[in-house]
Amino acid sequence: MAILVTGGAGYIGSHTVVELLNAGKEVVILDNFSNSKPEVLERIKEITHKDFKFYEIDYLEREKLEKVFEENKIESVLNFAGYKAVGESVKKPIEYYTNNISGALVLLDTMRKYNVKRFVFSSSATVYGNPERVPITEQSKTGGTTNPYGTTKLFIEQILKDIYTSDPTWDIAILRYFNPVGAHESGLIGEEPQGMPNNLMPYIVRVAAGILPELSIFGNDYDTPDGTGVRDYIHVVDLALGHLKALDKLEKEGKGLFIYNLGSGTGYSVLEMVKVFEKATGKKVPYKITPRRPGDIAKCYADPTKAKQELGWQTTKTLEDMCRDSWKYIEKNTK
Ligand code: NAD
Ligand code: UFG
Repeated sequence: MAILVTGGAGYIGSHTVVELLNAGKEVVILDNFSNSKPEVLERIKEITHKDFKFYEIDYLEREKLEKVFEENKIESVLNFAGYKAVGESVKKPIEYYTNNISGALVLLDTMRKYNVKRFVFSSSATVYGNPERVPITEQSKTGGTTNPYGTTKLFIEQILKDIYTSDPTWDIAILRYFNPVGAHESGLIGEEPQGMPNNLMPYIVRVAAGILPELSIFGNDYDTPDGTGVRDYIHVVDLALGHLKALDKLEKEGKGLFIYNLGSGTGYSVLEMVKVFEKATGKKVPYKITPRRPGDIAKCYADPTKAKQELGWQTTKTLEDMCRDSWKYIEKNTK
């Protein structure tokens, strides 16, 4: 029996595939390389010394997707495929709604056809909008998303709840990621944003590497200890392991729709991140303070108690680990 990983060549998907293979699971990957490269697949094999089946398809192409289910005994699906750039989603809402929502619907409908009803979904802390208070629990109010990307996550969560209501034989885990950063300690796989990076860590590593001149810190007048934005950064390997724990729960206990925050529970400011990065890598990160970025919130960090209690999962890697591994990846992969 195999686990289908859509978007398995991408940043979080590839790290999760490594952990699945390390745990002895059979994996089938599907990706259209819209935001990843085929080399990643070789890198996964290099890290794990294990093999897997791969299909280069768009998960919106129903007939090709059905072939994957025909040719393999799929028992669970981890759905990482989708577009994820907040700014781009504002400019291309139709593309985002189509790829993320229609894609998920085609996938879920195909799963139903083949009677595969175990599903793990990559959601995001973005579904909480501007949270009323931190830390954020799974009970915190959702909604108030400020961009089409965030809205796709909110809508897909609702679709999953409706599917579960209609047919409680589904086993569903909705994982709300906080801010994934870092890379595999081998430096072989990591985050590869196309064009100019939007997120903090990819920007910092490029400044440290001399690819970009300086970091712009978006505002130092937030209601936070040093005025800069506070986020809950989570090492991508910890995040990957959270998926294995969620899958475990669905396999062993099942019959339910479960929602978990996957975060460390600690918030760090942008300035703290810069300082820790410089200490962990010995590299300077020149920065300037610029106006706030529209849509940004002051503070966002998780209460990860539920995942700890129900999944036996918690983060183990530190912010230093995240900085060091992100840096290692960029050092190894930029010439
Ligand atoms: P990513 O872009 O690195 O990976 C997504 C993968 O899906 C890519 O390899 C891409 O080629 C593939 N893909 C996209 N559309 C596809 C399609 N139609 N058919 C087949 N493959 C397709 O992104 P990531 O950072 O690994 O994120 C994975 C998931 O986690 C996404 O759903 C994302 O929204 C969610 N998420 C990411 C973050 C983050 O900060 N990285 C935070 C919260 C949630
Ligand atoms: N920041 C800067 N300069 C930059 C980039 C970011 O100062 O060049 C600041 C932001 O203002 C924010 C913090 O660094 O205070 C983190 O910003 P990111 O863009 O790295 O992350 P966000 O929290 O804004 O968004 C991320 C993902 C979204 C996801 C959200 C919630 O990009 O997809 O977390 O999970 F929805």
